[in-house]
Amino acid sequence: MTAAAARIPLVAGNWKMHLTHTQGAVLAAAVVESARHLPGREIVVCPPFTTLPAVAAALVGAGQDPRSGPAPGGPAAGGARVALGAQNVHWEGEGAYTGEVSVSMLRALGCRYVIVGHSERRALFGESDRTVARKARAVCDGGLVPVVCVGETLEERDAGRTEAVVARQLGAVLEVLEPGSMGELVVAYEPVWAIGTGRAAEPADADAVARVLRRTVAGSGGPDAAGSVRILYGGSVKPENAAPFLSRPDIDGALVGGASLDAAAFTAIAAAAGGQAP
Ligand code: PGA
Repeated sequence: MTAAAARIPLVAGNWKMHLTHTQGAVLAAAVVESARHLPGREIVVCPPFTTLPAVAAALVGAGQDPRSGPAPGGPAAGGARVALGAQNVHWEGEGAYTGEVSVSMLRALGCRYVIVGHSERRALFGESDRTVARKARAVCDGGLVPVVCVGETLEERDAGRTEAVVARQLGAVLEVLEPGSMGELVVAYEPVWAIGTGRAAEPADADAVARVLRRTVAGSGGPDAAGSVRILYGGSVKPENAAPFLSRPDIDGALVGGASLDAAAFTAIAAAAGGQAP
């Protein structure tokens, strides 16, 4: 069911609420530079909204189309694809929604990915499974790719509810998606207790949860969707601990917070993601 050969490794950096637009442009250019020798991988940088235009321009300046990868014959040709992602979005197309940003606005800036349902959004900003599902649907409808975050709290883990929680969170999203778009999805398994704590999950445990998520996709979208959906692990991923996660059969990449703010550390994680012939 895993059909791993078809899945291009993906390492995404969630910059959270860090970096001004000028700082972000510098980091993005450094990431492209370090990713020049990493063919066969996809790297995604997800800056704050206000930093997106400057990062998009920096990617173009470094030879990357933020949606489709290295420009042929340009300075980044032969290296990793470095794409642009946002950290959040609203599900409506436009309207009186003060402070919100729509999918079409993100698409116009060159975004290819949008993180939805990060645990910080769920815990600190009250996002429910239903809200996350609406966002994921809007992202797919707008032609972009949602990175759907799921993960259990420590209490849920201690109560033996990890699998039930992540299956519920992902199930809510799958319920509203067209089966045809499920294979395109990226799902990030991020145990809440592992985010920003320095305490990563055990790679074997994360892989077992990734298998549950893949089975959940199979249940809604069939074996082809399950074989092509990419599942990331996130939570205290660093260059030192990345390889054991990234070599697991059902883990196709990483969602990286803190370590994504350093170009060398971030691309070292991408290097551990293996990679295939471009
Ligand atoms: P961390 O964050 O790598 O700093 O633990 C991961 C995330 O929140 O996506």
